[in-house]
Amino acid sequence: MSDCLHSLLWDGNALIIVDQTQLPEILTYRRCTSSRMVAEAIRELAVRGAPAIGVAAAYACVLALREARTEYQDWPQIRQAFHDSCQAIAEARPTAVNLAWAVRQMQKAFAESDSKTAAQKLLERAQAIEKEDIDTCRRIGENGASLFEGKNSLRILTHCNTGALATAGIGTAFGVLVTLASRGQLDRVFADETRPLLQGSRLTATELMEDQIPCCLITDSMASAVMRDKRIDAVIVGADRIAANGDTANKIGTYGLAVAAAYHHIPFYIAAPFSTFDFSIQSGKEIIIEERNPDEIRQIGGHYTAPKDVPVYNPAFDVTPASLIRGIITEKGVLTPPYEESILKYERSLTNE
Ligand code: MRU
Repeated sequence: MSDCLHSLLWDGNALIIVDQTQLPEILTYRRCTSSRMVAEAIRELAVRGAPAIGVAAAYACVLALREARTEYQDWPQIRQAFHDSCQAIAEARPTAVNLAWAVRQMQKAFAESDSKTAAQKLLERAQAIEKEDIDTCRRIGENGASLFEGKNSLRILTHCNTGALATAGIGTAFGVLVTLASRGQLDRVFADETRPLLQGSRLTATELMEDQIPCCLITDSMASAVMRDKRIDAVIVGADRIAANGDTANKIGTYGLAVAAAYHHIPFYIAAPFSTFDFSIQSGKEIIIEERNPDEIRQIGGHYTAPKDVPVYNPAFDVTPASLIRGIITEKGVLTPPYEESILKYERSLTNE
């Protein structure tokens, strides 16, 4: 198990979140006592990473019901207020589908309960989502590592942050790295710094160092040269939303990595849990890409490194076409092309559980 910081903790009355915007310089926590505070933490990236925001959203729904009960006596009014808060939580960030998935799960648990059992049912469901993610990450790690059986001295390139801070467990793509490292198969991990918000250098590099996994931090613009010059065996990244045809949204820069990996004949893998799949959309064209504050690009560490009013384009994610993805590492195994078929089979296996 990774020794890294865990992104969230439910203390019975509040969700305590490591404020990831302050890492690695300052380790500070936010104690979120309302659903609005959790939604705000998600929006500001204090808690981030697709699975972690799903878990945070689930606990936010627990708080939402408590708030509705404090405000209203009447059950239909409580129900309405609960669903209004759920809507606000789900809209905190648009791309990572784990968020909407978790809120839907909580609404389902609510629908299956009554005024006496709802609070307990919601808490149990949130705790189950968190626990499930721990197990899912472990399985993803094992399934990803199985791709490299018999291979040693591996050099893997990764992007953004997919570790303990981004999930409830050891991570998704990061879980594969942890598993390979524990089996002595890794030479080192090359981690992109991940502009504009530096999740790679601030978070992934910190987690790699804490887990004592040999690593090398590079700027995003070095990735192609590193692929050519440093004998990279594979690129493994996480995902925020995967369409039914395998097109995958992940942190901006992922698409460029996939293009460069194809040019250099390096296998490119996505690692993600079932909650990151959006079976309702046919392709990546339907994925809404979050655009964020232009100052994220104009500034580094709160200081302007560009003219204050320069026009900026700041999409937080991009979509990698399925044709560039060698495999999608899930908790149930590695999905391979043709993805329309393997993802449909995977979806069926989930509904039959
Ligand atoms: O904007 P962020 O930091 O939430 O983006 C995170 C990513 O893009 C991750 O790669 C993805 O959520 C997978 S986390 C296991």
